[in-house]
Amino acid sequence: MSQTHLTTEPAVIIIFGASGDLTQRKLVPALHTLACDGLLPMQSRIVGVARTDLSDQDFRHNLFEGVKAYARRRPGTCELWPRSAERHTYVAGSYDDPETYRRLAERLRQLDEEAGTRGNRLFCLATPPVLYPIIIEQLGKAELNKSGTGWTRIIIEKPFGNDFESARQLNGQVHAVFEEHQVFRIDHYLGKETAQNILFFRFANTIFEPVWNRKYIDNIQITVAETVGVGHRAGYYDKVGVLRDMFQNHLLQLMALTAMESPASFNADAIRNEKVKMFSAIRHISSGDVLECTVRGQYRGYRETEEIEPHSQTATYGALELFIDNWRWQGVPFYLRSGKMLTNKTSEIIVQFQRPPHFMFPLPPGREITPNVLALSIQPDEGMHLCFEVKTPNTLAETRSVDMEFHYADAFGADALPDAYERLLLDAIKGDASLFTRSDGIELAWQLIDPIVQVWESSKSPPLAIYEPGSWGPPEAEDLLNKTGRKWLSVHGEHGIDV
Ligand code: BG6
Repeated sequence: MSQTHLTTEPAVIIIFGASGDLTQRKLVPALHTLACDGLLPMQSRIVGVARTDLSDQDFRHNLFEGVKAYARRRPGTCELWPRSAERHTYVAGSYDDPETYRRLAERLRQLDEEAGTRGNRLFCLATPPVLYPIIIEQLGKAELNKSGTGWTRIIIEKPFGNDFESARQLNGQVHAVFEEHQVFRIDHYLGKETAQNILFFRFANTIFEPVWNRKYIDNIQITVAETVGVGHRAGYYDKVGVLRDMFQNHLLQLMALTAMESPASFNADAIRNEKVKMFSAIRHISSGDVLECTVRGQYRGYRETEEIEPHSQTATYGALELFIDNWRWQGVPFYLRSGKMLTNKTSEIIVQFQRPPHFMFPLPPGREITPNVLALSIQPDEGMHLCFEVKTPNTLAETRSVDMEFHYADAFGADALPDAYERLLLDAIKGDASLFTRSDGIELAWQLIDPIVQVWESSKSPPLAIYEPGSWGPPEAEDLLNKTGRKWLSVHGEHGIDV
């Protein structure tokens, strides 16, 4: 992975879907912040493409609204905007009309001449996914998939396909026009600093790796909980549900970072090779096991949301028990859960260690020793907790769990963590694909999720458990762990980490 402090070559960033939400909330605020931090050269340009008929002036106005509301460097901390506004221009046109791409090519040629962008082009697909194949095909036909003088890359937003077959088909369509090294598939969780830190934590220290295996770890829990409901994406969400929306990508990526072997070097292919090996070692949940190893839930009130079918069976909560069949992890359960409308917004990885093999201290009757726990908080309050036992003062042999904490904000300042899109866009401009998913990785992840989705969407599905908004999800999810005497843990437990 590259150094973020190095500046990049001038480039044109071409955003398809430029009048949409993602452009206004994420892409342009991130590009603006990069420019404010001196990481995008002044010659760089943004060209928006969309169907809506907008003038350059209106386009810039919309972008500025996004910058004011969402950029990490807002007016007040960075006064770049009025000067930088004229670098952004707009091309209106249909995505399937060759004329749109002819005008776009002409604009890019002009910019290379006038602004000095040297033929460097980053296409970003921020449209509804159904348009990806059309845009990619037209880019190919207009010969915009390569430029004579510079580099050409393409960022593809999630969702990348809807199942294994559609992802494979989309990979085929992409590869008909672009080579894999030009393709940057986004999973914004990989852009989060704390997700990246998992590899640093594991492999830049010597004290954790020796215990990072089945000999010392009892189980690993990955939670991505949200307090929001489906909101304005209801129509889309009702068709996909939580497994496709969160597990196939974010949760499996966090699992890969937690469980993969150490790559030999810190480059995109070495890292992604190890992830692919890890995905290949995850045991598939057979249709017969779905009932026992998965929980599906829906929050009460979901069906009353506008655009949701009144009898919708879509899961807004999921929990899975997964195993990795290799020497390091044989027999260690990985519990993954994610849901909407839960009690806390939190993404965390909990590593629960085994109990000591022999405990010599006399504990009061009914009291068990609390196992050590390491919690990696991806968000919010990014940091780590290590819980271990200490002797309770003034007792003969009582122990208590205490929490040793590290918080990024304390060590690096409250504003130290960039938005995921800043990092991802910067890496794509530099050509570093370490934090992006490769075609084989994305297909393997779908192959793991597809069989579960198929059972969930069939008559053999586990019952849909209705859970209360503001809870930790359905009680059935507790049973998934209780059957082996375990329970879900969280840094948001009543007494620090709830163990
Ligand atoms: C997106 C999902 O990929 O991630 C959304 O489509 C979800 O449904 C979002 O809300 C969560 O991202 P974050 O960064 O807020 O945890």
